[in-house]
Amino acid sequence: MQFGYFDDERREYVITRPDTPLPWINYLGCEDFFGIISNTAGGYCFYRDARLRRLTRYRYNNVPLDFGGRYIYLRDDETGLFWSPSWQPTRHEAEEYFCRHGLGYTVIGSAFRGVAAQTRYFVPLGANLEVWQLTVTNQRDRPLALSVFSAVEFCLWDAWDDATNFQRNFSTGEVEVEGRVIYHKTEYRERRNHFAFFACSEPLAGFDTQRDTFLGPYRGWDRPLAVERGQSFNSVAHGWAPIGSHHIRLHLAPGESRQVVFLLGYHENPPGEKFDPPDSQRINKRTVRPVIARYLDPAQVEAAFEALRAHWDRLLSTLQVETPDPHTNRMVNIWNPYQCMTTFNLARSASYFESGIGRGIGFRDSNQDLLGAVAMVPERARERILDLAATQLETGGAYHQYQPLTKRGNDAIGSGFNDDPLWLVLSTAAYLKETGDGSILDEPVPYDNQPGTEEPLYGHLERSIRYTMERLGPHRLPLIGRADWNDCLNLNIFSEEPGESFQTAPLKRDGTVAESVFLGGLFVLAAREMAGIARWRGLEEEARRYEAAADEMARRVLEHGWDGEWFLRAYDAFGGKVGSRECSEGQIFIEPQGMCVMAGIGLEDGRAQRALESVRERLSTPHGILLHQPAYTRYYVHLGEISSYPPGYKENGSVFCHTNPWVMIAETVLGHGDRAHDYYQRINPSAREAISEVHRCEPYVYAQMIAGRDAPTFGEAKNSWLTGTAAWNYVAVTQHILGIRPTFVGLRVAPVIPRGWAGFTARRVFRGVMYHITVRRVGPGNRVSLRVDGRPVEGDIVPLPPPGTGIVQVDVKIGG
Ligand code: GLC
Ligand code: GLC
Repeated sequence: MQFGYFDDERREYVITRPDTPLPWINYLGCEDFFGIISNTAGGYCFYRDARLRRLTRYRYNNVPLDFGGRYIYLRDDETGLFWSPSWQPTRHEAEEYFCRHGLGYTVIGSAFRGVAAQTRYFVPLGANLEVWQLTVTNQRDRPLALSVFSAVEFCLWDAWDDATNFQRNFSTGEVEVEGRVIYHKTEYRERRNHFAFFACSEPLAGFDTQRDTFLGPYRGWDRPLAVERGQSFNSVAHGWAPIGSHHIRLHLAPGESRQVVFLLGYHENPPGEKFDPPDSQRINKRTVRPVIARYLDPAQVEAAFEALRAHWDRLLSTLQVETPDPHTNRMVNIWNPYQCMTTFNLARSASYFESGIGRGIGFRDSNQDLLGAVAMVPERARERILDLAATQLETGGAYHQYQPLTKRGNDAIGSGFNDDPLWLVLSTAAYLKETGDGSILDEPVPYDNQPGTEEPLYGHLERSIRYTMERLGPHRLPLIGRADWNDCLNLNIFSEEPGESFQTAPLKRDGTVAESVFLGGLFVLAAREMAGIARWRGLEEEARRYEAAADEMARRVLEHGWDGEWFLRAYDAFGGKVGSRECSEGQIFIEPQGMCVMAGIGLEDGRAQRALESVRERLSTPHGILLHQPAYTRYYVHLGEISSYPPGYKENGSVFCHTNPWVMIAETVLGHGDRAHDYYQRINPSAREAISEVHRCEPYVYAQMIAGRDAPTFGEAKNSWLTGTAAWNYVAVTQHILGIRPTFVGLRVAPVIPRGWAGFTARRVFRGVMYHITVRRVGPGNRVSLRVDGRPVEGDIVPLPPPGTGIVQVDVKIGG
């Protein structure tokens, strides 16, 4: 069952009924000002940091679902009937309801008793505000007297404090109203030099800024008293809950349409110029007025919207493909890169499942997110790599998370996740291959942000590799520390304290025994990348050293990390096996199978092949590949959080989608295009659209997890949007299945596509050159023969063309 459809032409998903199984959200903003917006206008916005600079309130986990939003009420002033064109919050019978989620904008509309209304929401590039363009049309055959009310509830900036510190917050709220603009200025009197504004293009019939006056005693957002009676109260908030609500009156002739623009934004004043007059407590509005004037101008708003469209067109033009499969095309060309940019921008901070107050920016997560964005925004990827490296510690380890506002490591979470530093090598290698910009390796970067500790980035990478080599266990496999990629496999924590965070609990073991086979695989992959970087720099001897280290680790993985039919997952703190046929539960895990084969371990002796067969036999389901089997049915103190989840959910045996692309890539390493693409389709959200009542999350983006077969809700997705799944699926399908892969010396084209595909075409911008790629299957298998601009080229790499080249024509025959 579907709740809408894809409009690929316009790059939109169109939702056709408001009662989606969960709020289906979209993101506004792609620079400093962001918002999440649901298909019924729920959500909130913030400036840069979802916790510390939250502009509006949103009530997570509320009933009814999805409360707090960008609300508009329309009231027929003749009859007193009122409703919301976005369905929420009034939830009237909406006629012709639609929500179009597009790239960086959302349009929601409906009709009610002959009045059609729709609102387009977006954040202009370069601006710290969101525009709401409301268009109302009188479809009746008689004049219409209409009241329009807007409504947002302000957050008192720090979203955590806002939701907890009521003894203070009920007294601090302050606003100003001047003309058509409502200013929210809580704490502006003291240490803040920023405020929020909510402006309207039309003259006001009234306003409200005190929530409980606007709503009336014991009423909710569905039935505000001001709207019901058809007149604002002109309330001015002193403490309690400041809101912004404009009231305007429109008279529309039959058939007439009118546009009203609202702006909701963030503004900072220089600390010395906060007030006007300077000795007053009134906000100095001289700096914000031009911003407001600009975006209330309809021509400027249209121009800003066109600029936003052009921005996304440009980003997406980095890679466009035409394959025989519409789901692949749609995800590769539109939604997957869009999601990659979202994870790159927001890490795991703000979504319907991430409250924006819980977590900083993850070191491992951001390095992986970068893999999906580097081709689109190489300059920003460069900056991100340097920011991340600056939170690395001198040991080579890393803070697990850092704070976006300060870019400093987060002491509360600390470090000791032993996989973290290796991801930095992978992200840097991806950046180098994409851009050829070796200068990044020479950039001086401090450790732990401490001035005086700077070392070229290359040195950071060396320490990342060394970090693993210096932390080996009894089998000379990497020690797992607090956890590796699987945050919940906590082999040294032994937590028995209810509610204690597995992320921060003190280690109960000294950490010298528990080893990770997955980390062994990741190390091999990273050390090979490091060898590639060294060789490219002309450091042949170092390159050989890294290769030798990789080979040595691969040997140990085969010797101590092989369970007979698959790779083991780990050794626990007693030296016992995790992920072995000998275990009663958790016998086989996906992570080491995908990672070890990706790293090339076991290719020669058939073990890679055997491991993937085991994945297929034991872990694959119609809804994707499970994290492990059997799921843990009880809590094991020596395994930690993984066994805290009920079977089939999250890290306890769900389809944890992030890991599936590792197996897709592994299948392509073995040349299995059919299998790789089959796995791809199982979790492809577009391919799952038809079962939206089962999947329940948005059909246009990946979710972190899909409930596994041990769960009663098998097939149900959760935690959509902010997940490493986005980047890794993008890498898997574009670089390994379609096989268009940057290398140091040129663009490799080595597709491993399904047997039934006759071929595909692609356009890829790589280092400023446009590659027109045509792939034709001439026989079975994956052997590539290449013609570049008509001339045959040995191997599968299109060499870098001479400077000044605009377009390169690449013809690829595979098979035969
Ligand atoms: C979450 C975390 C990520 C981790 C994964 C598996 O997605 O953000 O860092 O690797 O869970 O535990
Ligand atoms: C929990 C989640 C995991 C996440 C971690 C960090 O352990 O299960 O997915 O990575 O929290 O927030």
